[in-house]
Amino acid sequence: MNLETAKKGLDDVGFLEVETPEGMDYAAEIVKLKKEKNAVILAHYYQEPAIQDIADFVGDSLQLSYKAKEVDADLIVFAGVHFMAETAKILNPTKKVVLPDLNAGCSLAEACEAEDLKAFKEKHPDHLVVTYVNTSAEVKAISDICCTSSNATKIIDSIPEDQPIIFAPDKNLGAYINKETGRNMLLWEGACIVHEAFSIDKLINTHKEHPKAHIIAHPESEEHILKTAEYIGSTSGLINYVKTNPAQEFIVATEAGILHEMQKEVPGKSLYPAPAHEDNTCACSECPYMKMNTMKKLYLCMKYELPEIHVPEDIQKKALIPIERMLEISSR
Ligand code: 13P
Ligand code: SF4
Repeated sequence: MNLETAKKGLDDVGFLEVETPEGMDYAAEIVKLKKEKNAVILAHYYQEPAIQDIADFVGDSLQLSYKAKEVDADLIVFAGVHFMAETAKILNPTKKVVLPDLNAGCSLAEACEAEDLKAFKEKHPDHLVVTYVNTSAEVKAISDICCTSSNATKIIDSIPEDQPIIFAPDKNLGAYINKETGRNMLLWEGACIVHEAFSIDKLINTHKEHPKAHIIAHPESEEHILKTAEYIGSTSGLINYVKTNPAQEFIVATEAGILHEMQKEVPGKSLYPAPAHEDNTCACSECPYMKMNTMKKLYLCMKYELPEIHVPEDIQKKALIPIERMLEISSR
């Protein structure tokens, strides 16, 4: 398809469907484009290995937000999912932010529409609204404060104990925070399709095969998985645990893309992905949204600076407040 036709179809398709020469070395082209366009590539740990390797910075949701805020390049290329690119645009609105595939959503963000949250807030007017960053800009705009999995307990602990809280959209992370902080937050009914796919029976079998392995899990996982874990934390927390703990074997209950960076950090240790249910599309839990980004789409979005992330100014201004509050508390 030629460029003009591809641009016309962009709103429907969500990414540029432009043909590239056969055998093109996308990595080499992307390196050239980075220089030519003064671009920076920010990637999440769940991106495919080739994308992580070519990125200027790889991190968890919180680290990526800090980076996006301080970026001085002309073009921010976000190799992650839509809410992450949107957060980058909210934090650094004068920069152009592109995402290789606009379809790269998130089951959590999709589970919480701004209209529904607004109606829920009206039913509980005395409650403060804390939202996980895995939400749309519109949802952030009606939130009081945001959090990520690395700062969630710190954010909640910063709120007076007698202040009732609505926590959205992840019920598993919310239940974990309730347990950790002794709160009784009202939880939204959202969940991550990847972290809900782990099979406890298969996990127990994997542990039987590797009895010395430490089970570690992301807090988006269900309670019965978290109960088996010796450590629970964000993606960067999990990597740090594997690096600093003297154990040699780990069963990792989060999206399998993390194993790339983790294994680089601990080349001599054995890492086993936590197994997913039989009916899951991938035996080791890959996020179908994160994996929508490919090297080809990354190359095309850098070359043509499309698809671009736009956030209406009024929403951007309102959404910035809960994100800035989070960053301020987090850095204390
Ligand atoms: P963190 O990288 O902040 O742990 O979040 C994981 C996640 O949900 C990304 O989709
Ligand atoms: Fe959303 Fe889960 Fe995918 Fe993260 S792993 S982007 S929370 S669906």
